[in-house]
Amino acid sequence: MTAEMSIAKRGLSKNGYLNLEVDPTLDLFEEIKKLKEEKNAILLAHYYQDSEIQDIADYIGDSLGLSQMAAKTEADIIVFAGVHFMAETAKMLSPNKKILLPDLKAGCSLADACPAPVFRKFKEKYPDHIVVSYVNTTAELKTLTDICCTSTNAVQIIESIPKDQPIIFAPDINLGRYLVKKTGRNMVLWNGACMVHEIFSNEKITKLMLRHPNAKLIAHPECESIILEKAHFIGSTTGLLNFTISDEATEFIVATEAGILHQMEKRSPQKTFLPAPPNNTCACNDCPHMKLNTLEKLYLCMKYEQPEIILPDWVIKEGVKSIDRMLEISEKAGL
Ligand code: 13P
Ligand code: SF4
Repeated sequence: MTAEMSIAKRGLSKNGYLNLEVDPTLDLFEEIKKLKEEKNAILLAHYYQDSEIQDIADYIGDSLGLSQMAAKTEADIIVFAGVHFMAETAKMLSPNKKILLPDLKAGCSLADACPAPVFRKFKEKYPDHIVVSYVNTTAELKTLTDICCTSTNAVQIIESIPKDQPIIFAPDINLGRYLVKKTGRNMVLWNGACMVHEIFSNEKITKLMLRHPNAKLIAHPECESIILEKAHFIGSTTGLLNFTISDEATEFIVATEAGILHQMEKRSPQKTFLPAPPNNTCACNDCPHMKLNTLEKLYLCMKYEQPEIILPDWVIKEGVKSIDRMLEISEKAGL
């Protein structure tokens, strides 16, 4: 056993990933391709990943597409180039498969904003309400949820619930407000937000729109109402991408995480995509969690099959019900 292998066997560095040196002369694209074949592994990537990770993925998608793919794949190993809640969802849907995440610290501010013990107490105050949770939650929170949703199917999920049934919606208050407006349902909202989507500057976007009068503003529903109100189109990452392909406009201001621009530019090379500016000078429309994954960490995690997502059996058994319910309703709605 080499030193590298013994470190890998003993477990992870405290950083949440395999902190081993990678030979800089290796062609990581080729190595990852080889590992995928050798191990019958599938690489799923979210649109917010770095472009090089997107380019080597077997499937790139939004949260709904990724969970649908995780539920149906026949691969033995699912390598998740995304964040922790997405890999947990894959584990709940495919408990007998090995689910790998290149960096366990790739979390989500929305999932962090809704800790299960606090939410449990909150829920007790509304005993006649059912809980709809955005999929951006921990596995444990899903055990307290009746139906999950993503930004692709949230409207259909809410509309599938009888009108006289009161609802708690968690954890994204911006998506929640958008859904209240869109469906006319008066839901109890949890007060969480995405650190990337709440940082767009209304003032800077307004100025950008004035400088680019033909550009259409497209926004993810995790953005604040003030941005959504002026958007020409609101949708999930897949929804936004499809809109840029089918719409006649040639210029778009994109109010979501900047990783999606890679697919937009690939699919419509003749069009121009401007990332919506954040309210300060940092690159805050890059999600710091999503961007923890690198090609090197991906290679190491596939080589040593670590870090792996492990969940208690009761969490899988209880939590998967809310995801299965979401997938059933989505299928019926043709999503
Ligand atoms: P979708 O990919 O479902 O649009 O969600 C965006 C997101 O924030 C994922 O973390
Ligand atoms: Fe979470 Fe926002 Fe990052 Fe998506 S972009 S993973 S919602 S922090």
